[in-house]
Amino acid sequence: DVLHDFVCISNRLPVDRVLDADGVPEWRTSPGGLVTAMEPVMRENGGVWLGWPGVPDETFDPFTEGGIDLVPVTLSAQDIEEFYEGFSNDTIWPLYHDVIASPAYHREWWISYQRVNQRFAETAAAIAAPEATVWVHDYQLQLVPRILRSLRPDLTIGFFNHIPFPAYGLFSQLPWRKQIINGVLGADVIGFQRPADAGNFQRSVRRLMGYETKSARIMEPQSDGTFRQILAKSFPISIDSAGFEELARRPDVQARAAEIRQQLGEHKTIMLGVDRLDYTKGIRHRLKAFSELLCEGRLTVENATLVQVASPSRERVETYRLLRDEIELTVGRLNGDYGTIADTAVHYLHHGYPREEMAALYLAADIMLVTALRDGMNLVAKEYVATRFDRRGVLILSEFAGASDELKQALLVNPHDIEGLKDTVMQAVTMSVSEQERRMRYLRKRVALHDVARWSRSFLSALDEFPALRQPAP
Ligand code: G6P
Repeated sequence: DVLHDFVCISNRLPVDRVLDADGVPEWRTSPGGLVTAMEPVMRENGGVWLGWPGVPDETFDPFTEGGIDLVPVTLSAQDIEEFYEGFSNDTIWPLYHDVIASPAYHREWWISYQRVNQRFAETAAAIAAPEATVWVHDYQLQLVPRILRSLRPDLTIGFFNHIPFPAYGLFSQLPWRKQIINGVLGADVIGFQRPADAGNFQRSVRRLMGYETKSARIMEPQSDGTFRQILAKSFPISIDSAGFEELARRPDVQARAAEIRQQLGEHKTIMLGVDRLDYTKGIRHRLKAFSELLCEGRLTVENATLVQVASPSRERVETYRLLRDEIELTVGRLNGDYGTIADTAVHYLHHGYPREEMAALYLAADIMLVTALRDGMNLVAKEYVATRFDRRGVLILSEFAGASDELKQALLVNPHDIEGLKDTVMQAVTMSVSEQERRMRYLRKRVALHDVARWSRSFLSALDEFPALRQPAP
């Protein structure tokens, strides 16, 4: 069997196995920021990507799709229920997003999480060449670095956490907090989105393990009395900015944007939200602000409309089901109360769309609303900016999204503050073209320079310089 010098592992592969309209199986791009970011990196760097193809029980041989070599890892229906929907998305996800929803703690889920992490680590250990680099991604696989290190001490191991890492006061709720920290610490370099996330992690390491930290370095005591050094710091993720701009400049995409504008009403202010249907995204807060603006007459359906793309996500997890019901009820009420035969208040779209359609929507939107209550980075904000080569449009961005560390010329909001959010929407609606351009120019510079290639280079070069680190400190 072929061995690989570079292995990327994430729970989900960049493509999911789905059935098309005629019931014929095909591979379709997977949802979420991790895939958006890592796909161009893997196409550029080569190597192999190991992950789950999104369906229960089915086993697939390694294959190549979109120029990337993929190694599918099988999850059973029980794994999906306990490891993926349970521990990953009903325990860790809400806990790491500041308990916006209550995390559920179940011992069977933890057992399943360990079992599946073991399987991912074993699969990687079997295909990694001697002294290969393995890059492990995200909260579903926090035990993989440690298991992998014990199976293959020759490997260089990176771990990147795409979502926030919570404050110790919250993290310490987790009954298996020490095992999780120890699992992640199997890596040589540990990356986070924001400096605050890295700081939270380091504090948990000190409190739970009693290890010393020296700025970004963690000192792990070894049995022979020496220390292994581990680097833990922030590496804010990004997108393929040039790729998005290129897409936006395509005549067919521009024609589609013009068509969308025309269909929605040329004279209207078009507001846009694009999210996985997730309670961390603040979709309800956005709808609340919009409905109050309509109620107060500061906006009318004749002069403004909201397009909300809410792509289906984790639909079998109860919190997500309840959220969907609530949002669809709210949208229905809003349209019933304020809509007319001619004008719809909210265009609600419960679908995922290809990149071309997203770029057209971004181009058509006067205002982009990113109102996450907590978000590791939020790449949608960066996609909007990268698309707007015309330097028009206003980005409203939650200060609780990692992107707000960088995109300071956006209109920053606290989405919990509905009055503040409403005033900010009105500020965006009335913003002069010159002010839009001034802000966009700054934002575009930032996103163009700090693109995903730069992110992966900086993480991988930290990992590369690691052999020095790996020597135990004297
Ligand atoms: C976020 C996470 C990813 C995840 C994606 C989609 O971006 O950081 O790890 O893959 O959401 O969620 P899903 O549960 O469908 O994989």
